[in-house]
Amino acid sequence: MTGTVAAVHPLARASRLRGSIRLPGDKSIAHRALMFGAMASGDAIISIRHPGHDVLSTVGALRALGAFIGEDQGVGPDDPTSFRVAGRGDHAGVRVTRDASADCANSGSTMRLLAGLAASGRGEVELRGDASLSRRPMERVATPLRRMGAAVETTHGHAPIVIRGNRPLAAMEHRLEVASAQVLGAVAIAALSADGQTVIRAPGATRDHTERLLRWLGAGVGRVTDPSCPAGTVTTVRGPSMLAARSLEVPGDISSAAAWIVAATVHPDADIELLGVGLNPTRLGLVDALREMGGDIEVRPRHTSPDEDTDSGPEPVGDLRVRSASRLSAITLQGDRIAPLIDELPLLAVAMATADGTSEVRGAAELRVKESDRIATLAAALRAGGVRVEEAADGWRIGRGPALPASVLTAGDHRIAMAMAVAAWAGVVGDVALDDPDCVAISYPTFWRDAAVLGATG
Ligand code: S3P
Repeated sequence: MTGTVAAVHPLARASRLRGSIRLPGDKSIAHRALMFGAMASGDAIISIRHPGHDVLSTVGALRALGAFIGEDQGVGPDDPTSFRVAGRGDHAGVRVTRDASADCANSGSTMRLLAGLAASGRGEVELRGDASLSRRPMERVATPLRRMGAAVETTHGHAPIVIRGNRPLAAMEHRLEVASAQVLGAVAIAALSADGQTVIRAPGATRDHTERLLRWLGAGVGRVTDPSCPAGTVTTVRGPSMLAARSLEVPGDISSAAAWIVAATVHPDADIELLGVGLNPTRLGLVDALREMGGDIEVRPRHTSPDEDTDSGPEPVGDLRVRSASRLSAITLQGDRIAPLIDELPLLAVAMATADGTSEVRGAAELRVKESDRIATLAAALRAGGVRVEEAADGWRIGRGPALPASVLTAGDHRIAMAMAVAAWAGVVGDVALDDPDCVAISYPTFWRDAAVLGATG
């Protein structure tokens, strides 16, 4: 937890935002690096700065499944935690040998990706989660795993999920109904132990960390665009594939950086530097959208080669400098522009609320099944702060309104809490009181500390 939460109330407009920070390690990459480390042969050190609760849920769940993961805290305030993962790979590169019950808490990625890992293991595994995770759809991952031959039971389509291992999995072609990196990742992980080539067609380009990391660890995995489906992708996995352990320093999380990218863009007196951030092109939708609206965002890549043998492995990394935009114009986002900024949409809504004209988001119905119903939670929060919001089944229309003080119900959703904090600091809404400021620690445990460093003391 942050330990400084009591100091953050109420959140008020900051006079200026200045400074330079390092973000927590990317949550999506961290989950995968830890899981693949446990599946690989050999030992690896996965270094993750300020791991949030979701990442720690993956560590805990892997331990419950029998993985050995040691943990060394860095000494400096920004030093990464080093997770020493002892890989226990067998011929398929996957091994879950224990009958176990693993708590995935609030983390959808932990549950869905581990479902793929457990499907190719040997024991019987139960995956459970908190109230929010237990409301989220799980058939989307159970169905393709069952087609491969896995025994997967959901609880009326939700968690807890029970997976009985020790079954041969078949290599086959899948056509995913939702463009979900979690589902794609689960199927790809299971496919590592199937005999032959698995083909996974997704209707949209999701984050490709699974493919990048698996290939980097030696698996026969690739991804191309789908010639038969505009915006679609085809991932191929050759099995059985063995993973060779490699150490990795997880880059900073662009989804955490997003808070400051939006805050600096919208605030009239801001200049913020974000160091060592992951610049995977499938995650840069927010940067593209804000630049199109008139944002001033400088991206300085450190290296771009996906196969380069560096500490940050197969992921491009760089620094960002974001300064106040002189003005923002409205934007409409839909179709294949949604997946690359799915987690950043609540923050983008804050920028939309300051733009000239009415902005629109469509084709984002997935937001209704995130940690909260993010369309409803966000619309209510922004409206309370005076922003004009029209809710649609799959998005919203947003325009400027008077900045009013607001009491915000976050529904325990970290992304809503951070978006509304940014809205308050940038003056998009009036003073904000959050019902649950601690929930930011799901992904960004140092959020309130970084806010103070940058001058957003409220
Ligand atoms: C994630 C994928 C996205 C994203 C989530 C993390 C991942 O979800 O919203 O926060 O690490 O694969 P979907 O895969 O359901 O789109």
